[in-house]
Amino acid sequence: MTVIDDRTIDDRTACALVEEDHEHHRFRVHRSTMTSPDVFALEVERIFGRCWLYVGHESEIREPGDYVRRPVGSRQVFMVRSKAGDVKVFHNTCPHRGAMVCRKDTGNAKVFQCFYHAWSFDTEGKLVGVPDREAYGDGLDFGALGLRSVARVESYRGFVFACFDPGVVGLVEYLAGAAEYLDLIVDATGDAEIITGTNAYAIDANWKLLAENSVDGYHAVPTHDTYFKYLTALGTSLAGGVAGTATALGNGHAVLEYSAPWGRPVAKWEPLFGEDAREEISRIRADLVDRYGEDRARRMADTNRNLLIYPNLVVNDIMAITVRTFMPTSADRMEVTAWELAPRDELPQLRQRRLDSFLTFLGPGGFATPDDIEALESCQQGFRSGGIEWNDISRGMAREPVANDEEQMRAFWRRWNDDITGDPR
Ligand code: FES
Ligand SMILES: [Fe+2]
Repeated sequence: MTVIDDRTIDDRTACALVEEDHEHHRFRVHRSTMTSPDVFALEVERIFGRCWLYVGHESEIREPGDYVRRPVGSRQVFMVRSKAGDVKVFHNTCPHRGAMVCRKDTGNAKVFQCFYHAWSFDTEGKLVGVPDREAYGDGLDFGALGLRSVARVESYRGFVFACFDPGVVGLVEYLAGAAEYLDLIVDATGDAEIITGTNAYAIDANWKLLAENSVDGYHAVPTHDTYFKYLTALGTSLAGGVAGTATALGNGHAVLEYSAPWGRPVAKWEPLFGEDAREEISRIRADLVDRYGEDRARRMADTNRNLLIYPNLVVNDIMAITVRTFMPTSADRMEVTAWELAPRDELPQLRQRRLDSFLTFLGPGGFATPDDIEALESCQQGFRSGGIEWNDISRGMAREPVANDEEQMRAFWRRWNDDITGDPR
C-alpha cells in the first residue's frame, strides 16, 4: 500500500489523486501529483517502466553501425542499426561489471568496446572480444554475456519505441487513435528524416505540466501574445483566430487540431514564407491532392496538429514538425529534447524556412517555448506556495469539447490514474 499525503493510492476505486464529478461538472487533480517524490517514484515504475516510450527515428540510424545514445524512461539505452539491418535498442550497461558501453551520443561503430576492461560487442549485441580470455574457465558461457536488448522494441512508420515491460500490448494497439495521426504526418512528409541537431533544455517543473501544455489551446492567446503581435506586424491576419478541435485518442493520447494564422510550410503559403516560396508550395499542394485526394490533402496542408502520445512524446505538426520528448529527473524537473522532422528532398529555401520556424517559434530561445517554460515553472512555484490543494481541469465538461477545452487533458489524467492506481498491465 502506498500513502501520499494521507491518500491511499493503490486502490483503483479510491481515485484519491484524480477526481471526476460529473454531477458538478468538476474534474480535479491533486497537486501532490506534481510535487511528491513518492508519486514520481511510482511513475518511474508504473508509467515509464510499463508504457511504450519513444526512442528515436529510423532515419537517425540509416547505415549498419549507426547509433544514437538516449536516456529513455530515466534509463540509459542506445539504438543501433545492426549489420543485418535491424533496429536494436540495448540497455547501456556492460554485462561484465556495469559500465556504460556506448559513450557517445551518436556515431557509427562496428563494435562497441567497453572502456573499463575492454570487452567488446558487435552490433547484434554479441560478445566478440574479451581480453585474456584464457583466464576464464571452460564452463563459463560467454554466449550469455552479450548486451541485453530492451524487453520490447517496435517501430511505427519510422518512429522507434521501446518498452521495459515484456507483457505490454503491441505498439499499434497501444497507439490506438494516435497511429492515424502519425500516418497523416508521415504521408504528408514523404521520405522523412530527422535533421541533425537537437534542442536540449531542462525545465524546473513537473513533466505532466508539459504534457498538458502541449495540447492546451486555452493558453495560446494570453501566453503567446508576443508571437501573435509579431505575426500581425508581418502582415498575417489574425481575424480568424485559432479554431479547432481537441480529441482524446485512447490510452491517454490526444490531439489538438486547428487552423492557425501562422500557416504551414508544407503546403499552404503565408506571407511569412516569402514570395519566392509561393510556386514550390503550390506544387507540393497539388502533389498531395494527386496522391491523397482533396479532403485528405486539405487536412494535411491546412490544419495544424499538436499530437500527444502518452506519456511523453509530442509531435507538433505546425509551421515545422517537431518531435519532442521530456523525461522527468525528479518531481519538479524534466529534461526536454526536440528534433526536427522534414522531407529528405526538400528545396533548400523551404528547408531553411522550416529550420527558422523550428528555432523562431518552437526553439528554447524562440517565441513560444520560453513563454511556456515560464508558465510551467510558475505553476511549479505556485504549488509550493500551498493553500490550494487541487488543480481544476473542468473546462468543457458540460458541452461537446472544443480545442480550448480540457477534455484532452482529462483523458491524459484518466490514463495516468489507471496506471498509478491499477494493477500491472
Ligand atoms: S565493465 Fe565492461 S569490460 Fe568490465
Ligand atoms: Fe504554448
